[in-house]
Amino acid sequence: MGAQDRIAKSSIKVKLTKSFSIAILIPSLVAAAVGVLMIREQIYEQAQAQVTSDLESAKEIYQNYLERLKDSLRIHATRMIVYGALEKNDPGGAFPREMERIRKAEKLDVLTLTDTSGNVFYRTCNPIFRGDSQTRDPFVKYVLQNKEPVSSTDIVAPEELLKESRGLADKASMEIKFTPKAGPPSRTHLDSGMMLKGAAPVFTADNRFVGVLMGGVLLNRNYDIVDKIRKTVFKLESYEGQQVGTATIFQDDVRISTNVQNEEGDRAIQTRVSAEVAQAVLKGGNTWRSRAFVVNDWYIAAYEPVRNLVGDTIGMLYVGSLERPYQDMLWKNLYVFLGIILLAVASISVVAIRVANHISQPIRAMADAAKKISEGDYSQKVEVSSETEIGFLANNFNSMVSELARAHQELRDWGETLERKVEQRTAELKAMQAHLIQSEKLAGVGKLAAGVAHEINNPLTCVLTNSSLMLSDLPPNHPQREDLQTIVDETLRCRKIVKGLLDFARQTKPQKQPLDLNKVAEDVILLVKNQASFQSIAIRTELDSKLPAVLADADQMRQVVLNIILNAADAMSQGGSLSIRSCYDSKTKEAMLKISDTGPGIPEEIQNKLFEPFFTTKKTGTGLGLAIAYGIMERHKGKLKVESSPGRGTTVSVILSTEVKTADD
Ligand SMILES: Nc1ncnc2c1ncn2[C@@H]1O[C@H](COP(=O)(O)OP(=O)(O)OP(=O)(O)O)[C@@H](O)[C@H]1O
Ligand SMILES: [Mg+2]
Repeated sequence: MGAQDRIAKSSIKVKLTKSFSIAILIPSLVAAAVGVLMIREQIYEQAQAQVTSDLESAKEIYQNYLERLKDSLRIHATRMIVYGALEKNDPGGAFPREMERIRKAEKLDVLTLTDTSGNVFYRTCNPIFRGDSQTRDPFVKYVLQNKEPVSSTDIVAPEELLKESRGLADKASMEIKFTPKAGPPSRTHLDSGMMLKGAAPVFTADNRFVGVLMGGVLLNRNYDIVDKIRKTVFKLESYEGQQVGTATIFQDDVRISTNVQNEEGDRAIQTRVSAEVAQAVLKGGNTWRSRAFVVNDWYIAAYEPVRNLVGDTIGMLYVGSLERPYQDMLWKNLYVFLGIILLAVASISVVAIRVANHISQPIRAMADAAKKISEGDYSQKVEVSSETEIGFLANNFNSMVSELARAHQELRDWGETLERKVEQRTAELKAMQAHLIQSEKLAGVGKLAAGVAHEINNPLTCVLTNSSLMLSDLPPNHPQREDLQTIVDETLRCRKIVKGLLDFARQTKPQKQPLDLNKVAEDVILLVKNQASFQSIAIRTELDSKLPAVLADADQMRQVVLNIILNAADAMSQGGSLSIRSCYDSKTKEAMLKISDTGPGIPEEIQNKLFEPFFTTKKTGTGLGLAIAYGIMERHKGKLKVESSPGRGTTVSVILSTEVKTADD
């Protein structure tokens, strides 16, 4: 993994985005979880409330049936045809027909008239069977005692049903089917029936109590009430082909009337309620509300106990609303809710990424700039886009970069200066070395010359003396006179060379005294101006009268100036002008004599050889003039400077410091 990748993975941007994401995700997940629970709770609460109100409506409908039964019995009991038959103790005539008409009109399964002793006077469905006592029937008993109408639900024994008809007994009779969640079955068969029952006192026109009119509707396999509930309460609503609302009447824990359908699409009678509900409602006598798995689907259900006349729980009334619509509504709500959360997370994430970018981008730019700076590019600048801490950092970064650039430039300049200084110093050293070589050369030549000169001087004097004597002895026209003259001249020349060598070699320590260089110049001019070689030369002087004195050996300095002036004269053998100037340089504190001629100048290629001993371009020159002068100036710690431009002339400067030197004085 490259450094770049590592940076990318651990970059501020990634870290910030991660932190933001965690900060967003955790509350979002909590919000989602809480939201889901709340929505679920609310939807179930709403469903429960709905079912509770549905149950109330169902109870109302059930109660209405009972009230209507009671009312119709009360009304029919006051009719003349009813009490007339009892009064006359004659169930014949139009009476049976009327009873049958009433029974059918009121949709009754049982319509029986008893006398005041509770014995059956007329059984509409089975007129032949009469005279049996109904005093044990709670409704008949109640009316006999209270003389007022009554209605309620009741369990009717199979023998009582048989008294009416076999058909009625068969209608009530049921095989109980196995139901998974129900408790252990206590029986396999249901013989008795559950009835809406009522009874009313029969009064004559003169208000005499003559009997009891008793009626009943068997609820087993009778779907009027449950279908009415579904129609009225649930408006026959259906959801994806399945009915939403269902109602059931239980006899004890067995479904005897229902519109819940089984898998085959038949009414799911003969099945049992779950043990849990049976326990709560039948045993506990309480209303029960919850989701319940009814036959083959989940319902939001409510169960209400159904009681008989004396208040014993004998069955249940159930209403249930299919859970699926609520479930789907829950999911729909959840999808919307989660969608909103997702949208919020997404938009917050976008903002988070932008913020992270905003923070990391300038830092990234600074890192990039720092990298380029480390590679030597000091022109880097980062953009200061905000007035936040990061903007402040960018600002400081920029000033740091310019400070760095300045320091770097300074360092480079300093390096260059150093280089220049080294070069200069090297040049100086080279010059010094050359100077040293020159001095050593001079010293070597000097020693050699001194020995040679000393040895040659005596024989030379002898030759010169003898040849001079011989010459003076010869008559003027003697043919050998010319040769002898040549011997004398050449010997003289030899002596000159020897003298020069001795002068050069002597190198005596200068006797330094305060000396006026003007005086030196004047002495030398006086010495030479009458000589033949100066006759065609104009001598000009320009001497500074305020020239400070120098410490020097007067003889040696004269020798220097003389040698220079003689060279100038040699250079101007065809005539010219010699100018001698003196001046003082207050800056360097040096006094100098500048001797200029208008001769041909010195060719450039020989300018560096002038001070070498025996270097000459002249026929009769020794090449020692400037070498001697140089040696003298050196011993005076002075300088000898030759400036010459070929064709225009030469200026030789004799320079001495006016500062008192103590080193080797
Ligand atoms: N003023 C000048 N103008 C032109 N050339 C000069 C001048 N001074 C010196 N020179 C050159 O420098 C050479 C060396 O001079 P230097 O005085 O040492 O020796 P020389 O003059 O040749 O011999 P000597 O001094 O013994 O007569 C000369 O031969 C000459 O070529
Ligand atoms: Mg000379």
